[in-house]
Amino acid sequence: MENYPKRFIQAGLIYILMGMLLGVAMSIDPTLNARMRFVHIHVNLLGFMTMMIAGVAYHVLPRFSARTIPWPNGMKYHFYLQNIGLVGMVSTHAAGGNWKEGALHWLFVLFALITALALVFMFYNLFFVLMAPKEEPEPVKQITGDMKVGAVLDEFPQSMAVFLESGFDSLANPAARKTFAKYVSIEKACEKHNVDMAEFLIKLNAAVFGSSTSPTMPESSNKGEEAENKNPGKEIFQGETCKAETMVGSLIKVYPATKSVFEKHYGEGCFSCPGQTFESVEETAQMHNIDPKIVLDEINAIIEEGLKK
Ligand code: HEM
Ligand code: HEM
Repeated sequence: MENYPKRFIQAGLIYILMGMLLGVAMSIDPTLNARMRFVHIHVNLLGFMTMMIAGVAYHVLPRFSARTIPWPNGMKYHFYLQNIGLVGMVSTHAAGGNWKEGALHWLFVLFALITALALVFMFYNLFFVLMAPKEEPEPVKQITGDMKVGAVLDEFPQSMAVFLESGFDSLANPAARKTFAKYVSIEKACEKHNVDMAEFLIKLNAAVFGSSTSPTMPESSNKGEEAENKNPGKEIFQGETCKAETMVGSLIKVYPATKSVFEKHYGEGCFSCPGQTFESVEETAQMHNIDPKIVLDEINAIIEEGLKK
């Protein structure tokens, strides 16, 4: 998908240049006002202001509400229809097409309707991106090693006692819970504190779900072979293809060539974003208003190409 938020902002900036020049011309020669007032006002308000707002809103609202634009193609139709409608409206109005009988008047009306339709598309996407139901996460039935310490503590505050008595003393500090606990998995935390993860998980699950629950644990930490059980889909290992839930950070570590797909769709700033280490390919695509399937197909094409060599 091309970057329509950016196009809206660029078009808006072009319109303000035009509106400003026209305003200056009207100031110099006030006799222009009668004919150009409508043009000046609509180029500034409908061109610059509305398009700037639309561009920023299309970019920000999906991120703000963590939902995808309900009709991504609608942004494209909005962009073309509003530009055609606005240019048509101001041209026919300046040529004397408003409030008069005749073909020019009806041409003005036609462009007015086109503009109105464009704004209806904008309304639909921006209104419903805020209304679309959020996907409810599956309730956690078992705590596993790949889960983040912070997420477990948020969801099951009663697990804190088990963490503390097993040697994770730093979690007593609320600042630590808010910062690194969010990013560190139980597996990594156990490694760092020399805690036996299998035993710890049994204790943790017993405290949270009752003693009858016995979590299924991978027996060894041999990454290649046990990847499927241990970390279903989130981490990727050499020889595997990418899935929607694969983390971008893990993917580009194993297959650095796939970086080009993210650069192409998300821009170069992508790799300075802390999100890339723990967000999935699907999440990042949704954040950038791109169909996750397109990104996944391109990534897997590169992986398969590399594996053939
Ligand atoms: C260098 C920049 C600008 C100049 C020189 C300028 C100049 C003018 C002039 C000469 C008029 C006619 C005033 C009259 O009829 O008495 C006018 C009206 C107007 N301009 Fe601008 N303008 C500028 C920028 C803008 C911008 C950026 C906007 C909106 C974003 C804007 C919105 C309007 C509106 C809404 C009117 C109609 C005001 C009314 O009905 O009283 N103008 N401008
Ligand atoms: C489909 C979109 C729109 C259409 C068809 C439309 C049409 C019109 C028409 C027919 C007029 C009267 C012109 C005249 O007296 O000759 C007008 C005036 C005006 N419109 Fe719009 N408009 C649209 C959108 C907007 C938007 C989005 C804004 C502001 C954000 C806006 C601001 C204004 C203002 C301030 C005037 C008063 C102009 C004056 O004082 O002379 N319009 N518009």
